[in-house]
Amino acid sequence: MAVPVWMDVDTGIDDAVAVMLAHTLKEIEILGISAVCGNTSLKNSFQNTRAMNRLCNSAYPVYAGAEKPLFRKPVHAAYVHGENGLGDVEVKLPEDETIRTEVAWDALYACAKEHEGELRLIATAPLTNIAIAFAKYPDLPGMLNTILIMGGATTEGNTTPCAEFNIYADPEAAQAVFLCGAKIVLCPLDVTEKVYLLEEELEELKSFGNEAGRFVHDSLQKPWAFHKKKGHPGIQMHDSCPVLYLVHPELFKAEEAGVYVETKGSVTAGKTVTDLYSDKQFEKKNALVVLDADSKECIRLIKEAVKSLP
Ligand code: RIB
Ligand code: CA
Repeated sequence: MAVPVWMDVDTGIDDAVAVMLAHTLKEIEILGISAVCGNTSLKNSFQNTRAMNRLCNSAYPVYAGAEKPLFRKPVHAAYVHGENGLGDVEVKLPEDETIRTEVAWDALYACAKEHEGELRLIATAPLTNIAIAFAKYPDLPGMLNTILIMGGATTEGNTTPCAEFNIYADPEAAQAVFLCGAKIVLCPLDVTEKVYLLEEELEELKSFGNEAGRFVHDSLQKPWAFHKKKGHPGIQMHDSCPVLYLVHPELFKAEEAGVYVETKGSVTAGKTVTDLYSDKQFEKKNALVVLDADSKECIRLIKEAVKSLP
């Protein structure tokens, strides 16, 4: 039987791929998707996420959440995701969609209540929506089965020397989520940077001959230029990792650790401080930290998903 899933995204090119992937996996039933400000503005991420419904021929309810972090000014990543969040590729909305006006945290809570103990929350964005949901509904963490997060780095960041984008964008929200007491699976850059598409695989996506393949090919041109300039061997598919971990944990290596977020440091804000490589003395192991993956198989599954779409 498929497991019930809620996705919280800042679509975002690799969020788009993660949604497509989750949509195609028979082990997952997406019950709702919330959009937040992050890789791009809330306006873009809400619209881009709804556009995924047209590409996937699906009708998932999509809810808008926070348009800015809890206490900080919004940061976006147009240098990777383009001005529109999807590599500046134009996307169309479904023709006959129902636009949801309920706010993200209320919709998430209602869904968690209905599926108490079963709902898996996959968060591939700054954790603002989730922190607001937990502040408004203190019983929510206890209702969730697992929170799977793309974010953080046990060593170097990708936005500052210390911090990864999703955590850097809203460290206070991230800290609230790491301390919430729910079961957390964290996919930091340690693993997500290992799951990358090669340049020749971009062409393969185009050769599928479907709209989804063309969309992923075209939208990934900008991130590929970015990654290439940085000396990376391919395009990192960060946000697909928690989706794949949920369905195929056997493809990953993970370790329990204490994870806390630096919220005060002038140069270290957004750092996910873990006790993996130290004296392991943090009092509580509050997250399962994913560190390695069978990258080839992960990429094969991502390509297969894109190929299977209209
Ligand atoms: O740090 C990697 C960034 O790209 C994150 O925003 C992640 O969610 C992906 O979209
Ligand atoms: Ca994202």
